[in-house]
Amino acid sequence: MKLAVVGKGGSGKTTTSSVIARTLARNGTAVVALDCDSNPNLGISLGVGDEETERLVSMRQALDEGEEEHANNWDTLISRYGSDGPDGVRLAVVSRIDNPEPG
Ligand SMILES: Nc1ncnc2c1ncn2[C@@H]1O[C@H](COP(=O)(O)OP(=O)(O)OP(=O)(O)O)[C@@H](O)[C@H]1O
Ligand SMILES: [Mg+2]
Repeated sequence: MKLAVVGKGGSGKTTTSSVIARTLARNGTAVVALDCDSNPNLGISLGVGDEETERLVSMRQALDEGEEEHANNWDTLISRYGSDGPDGVRLAVVSRIDNPEPG
């Protein structure tokens, strides 16, 4: 199942996303959350913590500025650029997915 949460500024996207992700993960579903927001702060709501969220955001900025190589497949993306929250949600902060694989 893939869910995308979109909406106007301040409408509750981050809060809603984290409640859905954490609830599914607590109930045993493997969850990967991709924060594609231009102001990425989903890590705070997922409980990843300020410092780790900042680290993930810095890695995304380095990618955008060409200082880091983009991951060329899904497994690399979530292992290299991801971090686990306390409920087991795997978070990655991404700016774009160039060649999405079917899965
Ligand atoms: N269901 C809700 N009821 C009341 N307040 C809410 C609800 N959902 C979110 N909020 C509050 O609304 C504010 C905005 O929520 P949130 O940050 O999730 O929105 P957002 O759409 O992600 O915002 P942004 O566009 O800035 O990324 C926060 O203060 C949040 O606590
Ligand atoms: Mg938000």
